[in-house]
Order: sequence, then structure tokens, then C-alpha cells
Amino acid sequence: MHEFKYKHGELYCENIKVRDLALRFETPLYVYSYHTLIDHYLKLKDAFRKIEPLICYSVKANSNLAILKALVDKGAGLDIVSGGELFRAQKVGCPVERIVYASVGKTDAEIKDAIRKKILFFNVESLPELRNIDRIAKKLGKKINVAIRINPDVEAKTHKYITTGKITNKFGIDLKSAHKILLLRDEFPNLVICGLHIHIGSQITESAPYIAAIAKVSAFVARLKKKGIILKYLNIGGGLGIIYNKETPQTAKKFADKVLPLLEKNNLEVILEPGRFIVGNAGILVARILYVKNTPKKKFYIVDAGMNDLIRPAIYGAYHNVIPLKEVKGGREKADVVGPICESGDFLAKERKLPRIKEGEYLAVMGSGAYGFSMSSNYNSRRRPAEVMVVKDKVYMIRSRDAYDDLVRHEKIPFALMGL
Ligand code: LLP
Repeated sequence: MHEFKYKHGELYCENIKVRDLALRFETPLYVYSYHTLIDHYLKLKDAFRKIEPLICYSVKANSNLAILKALVDKGAGLDIVSGGELFRAQKVGCPVERIVYASVGKTDAEIKDAIRKKILFFNVESLPELRNIDRIAKKLGKKINVAIRINPDVEAKTHKYITTGKITNKFGIDLKSAHKILLLRDEFPNLVICGLHIHIGSQITESAPYIAAIAKVSAFVARLKKKGIILKYLNIGGGLGIIYNKETPQTAKKFADKVLPLLEKNNLEVILEPGRFIVGNAGILVARILYVKNTPKKKFYIVDAGMNDLIRPAIYGAYHNVIPLKEVKGGREKADVVGPICESGDFLAKERKLPRIKEGEYLAVMGSGAYGFSMSSNYNSRRRPAEVMVVKDKVYMIRSRDAYDDLVRHEKIPFALMGL
């Protein structure tokens, strides 16, 4: 459920007419609904209340400080993957004991920084990384917590680019190697291996892949217990799918009902790392139709938002529902909704049956809250869009549109190049 609805033929976000936002802040514009965001977080929290997990919102899904702050204030922790995300986590005052850190490629500087800041633990993705963290911890004279990210070799049944739990993926450590590592844990005197982590992919709509992965890891936990290796945490990652089109994803409650019995058996403290589930349907991208172009073969709505603003359709062929801000009745015809960028992959919707919409009108690209702005770029020297958050009948600008100066802020023309 989300709070973007038509009222009297106009799209609203909570109590605000989206058109008013488009006119005031211009387009392309990301619009978020505070209550949708918080509602999704609370739904998950409520579904799992029996075991009171730590819910670490996955910062990469949408890393705007206002979004992070809203969730942290409601008790969420954060799942981070870089020094930059740690910086953001600290900016919003996330307690360090609520921060977990994954990524296959943590640098020494990032590791050092996170150790100094005393995050809850690293999710370690390889033996060399484990050795490196141990070495750095020794240098800093610290004993630190790590969880082993297990690659459970399960098929998440999602897009191949966002499947992460197959043995051919770069993520995590296979069970056999993880077993060896745990037996040899004394070789890492500066580490406490305190838990296991899995994250099998993203936009997963069924519970079966989770059950398969958790079952594998649970059997592993039991095996370790017999050898006297007692862990404290099980981090089951994120990945919960949402509705973009005709998906029928599990609700938080259904997901919890399926996995709770397995989780309870382990008796470990559980961590969840949802991103998309919380923020995906809490955001839309608003674009203005610049031109309606009819070619002998096709109709194109050329809008002022492009693949640099929302890249999901271009790289995953992802479906986002596109609707006009002003409800239009009557016949529909097939059209592509495309951006101004110089690539044929620059589309927001393809072969979509849309009502007849006029030039100058606005469109909303639904379900753009997750991996929308956070994956945006300045390609074609386009300024990244502004972001606003609606809280009932109030609107807050949470990021202003890039200025042209922002585009060249870090660039320099070497003096020596002049006149060469
Ligand atoms: N935990 C880890 C270790 C992750 O790598 C991810 C996402 C998450 C949690 C959160 O997953 P979520 O709940 O949002 O599915 N750009 C792609 C999605 C990439 C996901 C990367 N990892 C997209 O636009 O679909």
C-alpha cells in the first residue's frame, strides 16, 4: 500500500497535489511519502515482533539523509556498504551498535574507519578480507566482531543482475569454506566471529528461496554448536520484493509466518536488511512531457527525466508503472516513454498502453523510491533531480536540484595544458 492516489482526477501524495509540487520545484522531481515509508518499516517490525529483530535499513536503496533520519528515529539500524554510507549513517546519528557493514571490496581505510567508529559488525565476504580485517584490528589494538556472509547457493528467482546467493556470484563464502574458517578461528585472534549473514538477492517475491537459504544456514549453525562454536547473530539480509506491475509478493506478515519458525529454532538474534520493501513504493519520479512524437512506426512521449535520473528500466528492463498526474479517460494506445539522453536504452517505459496525454502535461513513474535517486548520475551533464518529502499536508525539500556549478565542482583545467 502507498499514499499516492487520485483524488478528483489528480494524483496526490498524502494530502498534497503532486502537480503543485511539479510546478513549485520543477521536474524531474522525486517525491516521497513519509507515511508510506514509515508504514512499511513498521509493518515489517510488527510482523517480526515475536523475535524483535534489529531492522537495518539498506542505505543503498535510498540514501537521502532525511529518509535515513526518519527511519533511524523510529528505531531502525542501517546496513552499509561503503565509507560514504558510514558517513551518512553518522550524519543522521545512527547508534553505531545498529550498523552492519557488507561489501566484497572494503578498503583498508574503510575498515579502519568502521573499526574506530565501533560498528556492530562487518559482514565478511572472503577469507582474504577476514585476514585483512584481523590484521587491521591488530594494528589498532582492537578485538572486533565479524559475521561470515554465507553464499548458500540458492536460486532467488529474480533478475540475474540482482541474484547474489548462487555459488557463481561474487558474494559470500560457501558453507564448506566457512566451516573451515570457523574451525580455524583461533588464527584470527583479533576477531570474534559472532554471526552469519545471508543476502540472496533483491526483488524476491516468494518465500521459498529464503526458506531454502535459512534452512541451509540453520543446519550449519546446529553443526557448529555441536563443535562448541556458539554464534550470537543471524543476519538474513534484505531482498523482499514489492509490486511494480503484476507481481504478487508476500506481505511482511506472510514472510514472517514462513520464516519465523525456522529462525526461532536457532535461538540467535536476528537482523533484517530490507531496502526496497521499505522505500520502493514510497517514492515516485515526476516528469514533464516535452514532446509527443509520432513516427511511422511508433509513438514516443519524450519527457524531461532520463536514464540518468532512473536507470532501472535501462539496465534491468525493469517495469515501472507510468501514470499521468491528471487522470485521463478514454482510449489508450501504445507508446514509449523516453528521456532526452543520447542512447536508445534511455527509456522509462516501452510499448506501454497509455491514455492520450498532451505535451506539457506531467507523468509519474511509480515505485521509484528504491534504487532511483541513489543510482542516478550526471550523464549527459544533466543535473540530478530535486527530492521532496511529503508529510500529510506539509512538503519538505530534502535535496535541491544540482546546480550547473555542481557538475564541474571537482574538475580542474591544468595550467600546463593551456596553449600546448
Ligand atoms: N543487504 C545486502 C547485503 C544487499 O546487497 C542489499 C542489496 C540489500 C541488503 C537490500 O536489498 P533490498 O531489500 O533492497 O532488495 N539496483 C537493484 C537492486 C540491487 C540490490 C543490491 N543489494 C535494483 O534496482 O533492482
